[in-house]
Amino acid sequence: MINKQSGVYHTTSVDVAKSNRTTLFLAGLKRTYGDFREKQRQGDAPRLVDITNTTGFHHPTVHQDNGLAPLEAGKVQDVVDRDLSIYSQRRGLALTPTITSNPLLDLSHPAYGLPKQLVDNFASVGIKSIYPWQSECLLKSGALGGENNLVYTAPTGGGKSLIADVLMLKKVIDTPGEKAMLVLPYVALVQEKMRWLRKVVEGITKTPASPFLGERRPSAWRKRGDEDSVRVAGFFGGSKTKATWDDMDIAVCTIEKANSLVNAAIGDLSIGRLGVVVIDELHMIDDESRGYILELMSTKLLSLEQKVQIIGMSATLNNAELLAKWLDNAKFYISRYRPVPVEEHLVFDNAAYPASSSTIFYKTATQLNTQSENASQLKPEPARLITQSLSKELNNPIINAVVALSNETARAGYGALVFCSSRVGCEKDAMLISQVLPSAGEVDFSTAEKRRDLLSDLSTTTGLDPILEKTIPVGVAFHHAGLTTEERDAIATAYDQGVIKVIVATCSLAAGINLPARRVILHGARMGADLVGPSMLRQMRGRAGRKGKDEIGETYLCCQKSDLEAVAELMEADIPNVESCLLPGKRGIKRALLEVIATKLAMSNDSIDDYIRKTLLFHSIDRNELAEMVLSTVQELKETRLIEESNGSEYSATSLGQAIVASSLTPEDGLFVHRELRKAMQAFVMDGEMHVLYSFTPVQAAHGNINWQIFRKEVDRLDESNLRVLEFVGLKPLVLNKMAQGGSMKESTVQEVEIARIYRRFYAALQLRDLCNEMPVHAVARKYDIPRGMVQNLAQTCHGFAAGMIKFCERMNWGALVAVLDHFSDRLRAGAKSDLLALAKITYIKSRTARIFWENGFKSVAAVAAADVKDIMPVLLLAQPKKPRLSPQDEAEYLNKLRGKADIISKSANHLWEKEMQAQLDEEE
Ligand SMILES: Nc1ncnc2c1ncn2[C@@H]1O[C@H](COP(=O)(O)OP(=O)(O)OP(=O)(O)O)[C@@H](O)[C@H]1O
Ligand SMILES: [Mg+2]
Repeated sequence: MINKQSGVYHTTSVDVAKSNRTTLFLAGLKRTYGDFREKQRQGDAPRLVDITNTTGFHHPTVHQDNGLAPLEAGKVQDVVDRDLSIYSQRRGLALTPTITSNPLLDLSHPAYGLPKQLVDNFASVGIKSIYPWQSECLLKSGALGGENNLVYTAPTGGGKSLIADVLMLKKVIDTPGEKAMLVLPYVALVQEKMRWLRKVVEGITKTPASPFLGERRPSAWRKRGDEDSVRVAGFFGGSKTKATWDDMDIAVCTIEKANSLVNAAIGDLSIGRLGVVVIDELHMIDDESRGYILELMSTKLLSLEQKVQIIGMSATLNNAELLAKWLDNAKFYISRYRPVPVEEHLVFDNAAYPASSSTIFYKTATQLNTQSENASQLKPEPARLITQSLSKELNNPIINAVVALSNETARAGYGALVFCSSRVGCEKDAMLISQVLPSAGEVDFSTAEKRRDLLSDLSTTTGLDPILEKTIPVGVAFHHAGLTTEERDAIATAYDQGVIKVIVATCSLAAGINLPARRVILHGARMGADLVGPSMLRQMRGRAGRKGKDEIGETYLCCQKSDLEAVAELMEADIPNVESCLLPGKRGIKRALLEVIATKLAMSNDSIDDYIRKTLLFHSIDRNELAEMVLSTVQELKETRLIEESNGSEYSATSLGQAIVASSLTPEDGLFVHRELRKAMQAFVMDGEMHVLYSFTPVQAAHGNINWQIFRKEVDRLDESNLRVLEFVGLKPLVLNKMAQGGSMKESTVQEVEIARIYRRFYAALQLRDLCNEMPVHAVARKYDIPRGMVQNLAQTCHGFAAGMIKFCERMNWGALVAVLDHFSDRLRAGAKSDLLALAKITYIKSRTARIFWENGFKSVAAVAAADVKDIMPVLLLAQPKKPRLSPQDEAEYLNKLRGKADIISKSANHLWEKEMQAQLDEEE
């Protein structure tokens, strides 16, 4: 639709909303609800979702009205001509110069030297030409030759990823044997990136290694079928970490996994194969809790003798130049290009004010605040007004606005991303928004079916969340760390495909993610109790209008009047410079020094000095202060007996220091674990499993809240042996009793903090016990009143932690404890009894499924490997949760999906079996 009057050459969500009260989709056709009803009467209408016939189906139930009382959302109306400055500017300009005017915008130009297949693949995912800044950055930085490091910034959605992707892929394809690592801060980003990269590398073959140069070729019969293709592996949370460089070309990892991968590669001397490391969202180097890991990892890479090309990027980096200097005088490039226009608003008291730039935003706020005192001031005109809904649930203007704006977007058929300050807030908003949208019964058949599929996917993994069960049928979901990673991935994917129209998320979805958000709505500008920082605000707003996903974007920052001034100030604030987390007052330096001394990268004052010179810290602090700080940290490490000095300032790590580094703990956590394990050495309870499970409970997991009544109930059920564990680790039933009756835990002295930590750890250990006894994640979450994402995190991190504990005891030379922990760690890995251990290594065959396979005669990997897929099917069917009664067509599709799964199971079993055989052969050789 071309709105000539206002000069807008596209349809805005507002225009569409005005013309359609309710929009239903059918095979890409938008029709009004009136049309739909009319067709119904004529008898050729698509079927409404009819799943009233659901006997024997106890989840996911899509009721016609999903059990929620419908609410009426406020209406959004334009009052004045909307501020069209950005849009009209865009109209006057050709958006992006074309290949005809600049041949360098074509990725197939010889200057880039990319294989045709790669260029074609980029085109097939929507990148048919590149932006001028992308071309300039690639060609002028010298990074394409693989030599220079590169740091660059561009606004959110500016297209930064493409540059790193091209550089990384070119290297992996052109240089035989060279590997790449891509570091991202959040699991959701890792998952998205893996999906994207796998599409981009499809059908590409790497340049083969010359027979004379390069790596030793493996003997022909061991050559893998996929060795010449580009393989992408993901590392996050509980994903497998055992893959070696041989299994992949590109490792996409979270920060923590990246650091362990680098440590492991330094340890086994395979680091030489790493050619390029990309750090996305480089501003994370400043992050309070995780930034120092990024700095340590990069510093290690900079200290290696061999050159690893480092590429860093971010949208919120004010001092790119400093970071470039640190990264070995990297080239740096700053772009301000925004490919998609984004219209920004400030909303409060049911009125939306234009705020196309932060200055206007600030002015708006000041004027509004001073309005009553100084009436002569120009009164800012709201661009849009939102009527107050009559429903009392939407009484609060901020909620009224959030719901009305989401409603408008979703009804127009676009995606809205709502950011909320807390998990509970996300769930509440999701419920309210779902109550104003067309009910499940009014949704067209194909969408309803896709939503039903999503519900069914969600319920097969961990059991369906009761709120999602209500909101998904109307196209609304929430997304936060309380959900498992699989759930979050399924929801983001459904939103990407338009099946879900509104996601309400915490900031975990803020940075980097590429979703089709026509509108970003901020429910306040807080995360938890605090206002977000300017960078985070920019990241959240930057989710709106992403090229390839949408043509324009809008953001609405809804705030309370009392927050107005602070929010305006926030909008005005410059993005702060990022700084090193090793600076005084932050905690990184101790760990950094311990790590280099333990890994023998530095052993004398001189070599410590050399190492420190490679850190970002070195570039951000006065030299004298730095020297003093290093000295006092070394002193502290000596005092806590993590390092020792011999022959006049030659440093080495003590067993404890070694143990802490080997088990990837911070020095503080390491000392805590040491105290705990020392207690365990004196009396280890072996006639039950609680003590070993307690020892395997990650100390980091001991941060959640305890439901004391549940805790007491569980402790009451412990048998005599497990009660002894309780006593040995230092917990008192009396205290538990007091807490369950409403007492509060004191945490003011160091000792009190430690005791509280032990209670929390034991509470987590109880959860771990249930997980090991095959209780599914969602059931454990419900039982202990803990978000399932946290339980999943516990289940996923305990393996790594257990391995760390074993290493810890090895380094401490506590052989007996090593043997005990080692013995029990297998049990942990299976999440099932030990006879199911082997089976659980097969893809898809985990805990409950493993048991069903075992009970049905498949007692070993060999048995599954030898079986025909058609014999695996009935067992797999048995292991599925109950399904709704399906139409014959759905039934066929369902079976087809399962057959696919059975096929993968069979392949995985065969693969494992071959490996086992190979290992035996190797032993015999
Ligand atoms: N040359 C191009 N042509 C068309 N689409 C592009 C081009 N470059 C990037 N895009 C698309 O633009 C969108 C945003 O790009 P990208 O994710 O790289 O942004 P970003 O700069 O990393 O932003 P953020 O800071 O938010 O992470 C993606 O969907 C990407 O595929
Ligand atoms: Mg990005």
